[in-house]
Amino acid sequence: MRLFIALVFLASMLIVPQLAAADQVTTIDELAAMYNVESCADCHEDIHNEWKESWHSKSITDPRVLRTWRTFILRGLDKSDKAKRSDLRMCLNCHIPQIKDASDDLVVQIAGLVVTSVDDKNKAKREAAEKELSKLNINCLVCHKLKGAPDGNPKPGELYGPNGLDDEDSPHMEELGIKTVKSDIIKTADFCARCHNGCQGLPSSICSSVVTSYNEQYVAHGGEKTCQDCHMPQGEDTKSHKFPGIFDVDFAKTGVDLKIIANPTRYIYHLENRVVPAVAIKVDLTNIAGHEWPHG
Ligand code: HEC
Ligand code: HEC
Ligand code: HEC
Ligand code: HEC
Ligand code: HEC
Repeated sequence: MRLFIALVFLASMLIVPQLAAADQVTTIDELAAMYNVESCADCHEDIHNEWKESWHSKSITDPRVLRTWRTFILRGLDKSDKAKRSDLRMCLNCHIPQIKDASDDLVVQIAGLVVTSVDDKNKAKREAAEKELSKLNINCLVCHKLKGAPDGNPKPGELYGPNGLDDEDSPHMEELGIKTVKSDIIKTADFCARCHNGCQGLPSSICSSVVTSYNEQYVAHGGEKTCQDCHMPQGEDTKSHKFPGIFDVDFAKTGVDLKIIANPTRYIYHLENRVVPAVAIKVDLTNIAGHEWPHG
């Protein structure tokens, strides 16, 4: 249902024309190279390994995403007179925001690879298409460059972090020639909302996302934790970048307060005139996550 509402809402945005920039790239390899994070892994190995395990690192190759996009392309975009395959850009805007630097032709190529990766009869072709797509994901530069700027407008040569580094002797300046600017937004729910709220401006009664329900049902009732407090717990040295959610059983358990009170009783089995031992169970289930669930 949530996806349906999102699709209808997003389809209504199809009429907004896309502005074409002059320097848009035309191949996946060029786009991947612009957002290459190998240098980050050299110094931030643990964070890189955690991120590799997160859904953010599979933001298009998650099988649920690939399959849904295949259906959206074949049944939505291809069947509509008003839509084109390049309109897949509206989904890519959040799942791989680096798409802003790609030409419409590249978006069409990506749409073709999505369909091949799910539907092609030849296994080798399906795997090859998925491998190509896996070069693009929500990586360090998407969060710390594209989405992390305080005013939402990233500047060339800047990275955004929770504290900022002194550029005079920062390893980023020395090794990569980039400034590291403090961004207050990156520690707040508004940062996650830049992608996790497909319901901008709508109340959760009409369109519900983790962000609308966080604001209306958690913060409005005195909840004080940020998304980061729960989803990026402090690790040995740094904040975890695994971003556990509903599929991490141990983490999901932290979202419920479950009390089960069991009292022994007896019950008369009337067909056989027999007394049978039984248990009366009372279950108290309280949601203590920062939003409604399950949601995924
Ligand atoms: C506003 C940003 C945004 C846009 C636009 C967007 N998505 Fe997503 N999508 C997300 C986020 C964030 C998640 C992870 C949410 C979660 O797991 O609760 C997600 C998860 C998904 C999932 C996996 C979870 C599920 O519910 O099955 C699918 C499939 C998906 N999106 C399809 C699409 C399609 C199709 C489009 C384009 C019509 C699209 N998305 C556009 C942000 C977006
Ligand atoms: C030469 C080593 C080196 C490289 C390469 C490097 N970093 Fe760092 N980075 C550091 C050190 C050292 C710190 C300060 C200690 C810390 O926060 O881990 C830091 C801090 C950070 C911070 C926190 C800044 C803040 O505001 O608190 C972020 C975010 C970050 N790096 C991202 C990146 C990204 C993204 C890349 C790749 C483009 C990268 N780093 C490449 C060494 C490096
Ligand atoms: C989905 C967005 C996202 C991605 C992807 C991401 N980060 Fe972060 N990162 C954050 C946020 C948010 C914080 C601030 C957390 C806080 O302080 O509450 C952060 C904090 C950091 C810090 C400071 C560590 C600390 O303990 O305060 C470093 C260093 C860092 N990130 C490096 C990286 C590197 C390297 C990558 C890629 C391997 C990466 N990040 C990928 C969102 C992201
Ligand atoms: C650039 C857009 C973007 C940003 C910024 C972002 N996310 Fe995500 N996030 C996504 C997308 C897209 C997915 C779905 C990936 C998938 O299912 O493959 C996702 C997945 C997740 C998941 C796993 C969902 C599941 O189904 O288990 C969690 C948890 C999550 N994000 C939390 C956060 C938090 C907390 C922040 C802020 C600190 C954040 N994200 C910032 C786009 C983003
Ligand atoms: C008080 C802790 C807490 C806070 C605050 C919190 N979450 Fe969660 N979140 C959880 C728990 C626990 C789960 C797993 C159970 C579930 O799905 O609710 C979860 C699940 C998720 C999921 C994946 C499953 C789903 O329901 O789609 C996403 C995405 C997510 N949270 C994003 C966010 C974002 C974005 C924020 C801030 C606006 C946030 N969370 C705030 C605890 C929290």
